[in-house]
Amino acid sequence: MVFKKSNQLVGLDIGSSFIKVAEVKTTPKGPILKKFGLEKTPTGAIVEGRIVDMESVAQVIRTLLRKNKIKEKHVAISTGGHSVVIKTITTAKAPEKELHASIHSEAEQYIPYDIDDVNIDYHVLGDSEFSADQLNVLLVAVKKDLVAEYIDLINMAGIHPSVIDVDTFALQNIYETIPTEDTSKVTLLIDIGYSKTSLNILQDNTSLMMRDNLSGSKQIVEDLQAQTECSIEDAELVISGHAIESIPADTINTIYTNISSNWCSEIHEVIRTFQANTSDKAVEKVILSGGSIFMPGFIDNLNAELGISISIINPFEGLIVDSKKYDDSYLTSVSPQAPIALGLALRHLDDK
Ligand SMILES: Nc1ncnc2c1ncn2[C@@H]1O[C@H](COP(=O)(O)OP(=O)(O)OP(=O)(O)O)[C@@H](O)[C@H]1O
Ligand SMILES: [Mg+2]
Repeated sequence: MVFKKSNQLVGLDIGSSFIKVAEVKTTPKGPILKKFGLEKTPTGAIVEGRIVDMESVAQVIRTLLRKNKIKEKHVAISTGGHSVVIKTITTAKAPEKELHASIHSEAEQYIPYDIDDVNIDYHVLGDSEFSADQLNVLLVAVKKDLVAEYIDLINMAGIHPSVIDVDTFALQNIYETIPTEDTSKVTLLIDIGYSKTSLNILQDNTSLMMRDNLSGSKQIVEDLQAQTECSIEDAELVISGHAIESIPADTINTIYTNISSNWCSEIHEVIRTFQANTSDKAVEKVILSGGSIFMPGFIDNLNAELGISISIINPFEGLIVDSKKYDDSYLTSVSPQAPIALGLALRHLDDK
């Protein structure tokens, strides 16, 4: 009998506030959750997606892998935010080799960076709705120096980066495994992290519109600091629900109300833009992820603003989970923060 080594990867989501790790094993019975864990990112070590303090982040990754007893050395990571550009473009149909060349030469006009400074990748979405000899192509450009930075970090942590994905795609990847989600409905996936938000409107496993912005609970921290001169550490305690004597509850609540209202308006604006450009489609449901969706009042606000079905993602639903290892209350508490690491863990060594 020949034992074939699994080519499944460990998913590592390196967030600016938490680093999450996941290991999933694909079996004939279905995907099994082997490991999941998360660890706080050192404050200020990752800023605007860039790694400012390489050694301290590498140290946290090593700790996370050790605590979760992860032996596998090949990992899938993802990037997002400003250094990643994702655009849907239309290009002439051509055999694969020519398409590759033409997309690379056309890419320059769509990307706000020097073409020599980015890695280009693309995915053919299908025929253009306007012309039989045109294709819709999803173009992805990631800054080379950002990729190099993440590769250095992963190597410093003693592991190997085998797949470099994009946050939004990893989230979509896990969403599509959730058995109770009707993927034929036009769905808006929203991930609100610490320093960024990503929005992805999709239907039938195809993205129709993507947007990124800088909303996140970092804004709460900055407002608390500006208004009360508290430390970052105290502001973070407040956000996780602790009372700090020197920070009045009124101040906190006003900040929550203002930020929540801004986030809701931004989300509503994305939906309006989508609907203005696609007269025959409307967003039917919203699925939330990211730790910042726990901000008090936010989900109620969003419900009132949008008036459509809103739920929090359950990324574990399509996975077989040993309840003795991970109980329901733990999984529920980490559900909004887990999807990207899980989506990455479903990638294989032979994936791009
Ligand atoms: N109750 C809460 N209210 C508001 N924010 C919260 C709450 N609980 C957690 N958070 C926020 O969620 C953040 C963590 O979310 P998440 O893990 O999605 O961020 P991240 O992935 O590290 O960020 P990014 O993707 O932007 O780099 C924490 O920084 C915290 O501020
Ligand atoms: Mg994140």
